[in-house]
Amino acid sequence: MAADTPVDVDRLRNEIESTYQQVAERPDGSYHFHTGRRAMDHLGYPADLLDALPASAIDAFAGVANVFGPGLPEVGSRVVDVGSGAGTDTLIAARAVGTDGAAIGVDINEAMLERARAAAAATGMPHVGFRRGLAEELPVDDGWADLVISNGVLNLVPDKAAAYTEIHRALRPGGRLQVSDICVEAAVPDEAKQDVDLWTA
Ligand SMILES: C[S@@+](CC[C@H](N)C(=O)[O-])C[C@H]1O[C@@H](n2cnc3c(N)ncnc32)[C@H](O)[C@@H]1O
Repeated sequence: MAADTPVDVDRLRNEIESTYQQVAERPDGSYHFHTGRRAMDHLGYPADLLDALPASAIDAFAGVANVFGPGLPEVGSRVVDVGSGAGTDTLIAARAVGTDGAAIGVDINEAMLERARAAAAATGMPHVGFRRGLAEELPVDDGWADLVISNGVLNLVPDKAAAYTEIHRALRPGGRLQVSDICVEAAVPDEAKQDVDLWTA
């Protein structure tokens, strides 16, 4: 366990890997969170945005809210999706920015990346790509992004300061961050922070 993180990071990453591999491979399985189109409808994603995407990108959605609640990215802008999963939000962003812009999804999970890349290929959009990487070490150049989005991911990251530092680095000065995530209003006891099952369940 690293001195500055409350949990065994390797064990946590293995658990996260295993959970989201299952979601990517069997999105209609039974999980402790909602997935897919039903979840997206419930969270208030407009139907026309979803109807324009391949079902494979929608089926394995596992976000916690509509990350575009504050608005869609501007035409021609550059977007990074941290923890992009099946690529649902990345593809919505890519459609919004158009071919003068670009959208990059970053995730650690190969099965999710595979699903996202297949969905991107099905849309035929040339300005969207998916990269394997950590939120804590984003594979994105300094100041590249006009907008960073992240949906349901930062709660899974043990070193949140590292992830936010990376997001800040990847954003251009004056760029924007739109995050949907789980927040707690009370301090989490140390014992709970050390329990990997509580991070992933
Ligand atoms: C709850 S899912 C959300 C996926 C996607 N944002 C969505 O809304 O459907 C969490 C995703 O974050 C990824 N993830 C977890 N920890 C990560 C990290 N440290 N760096 C990059 N991706 C991570 C997982 O592999 C998984 O795809």
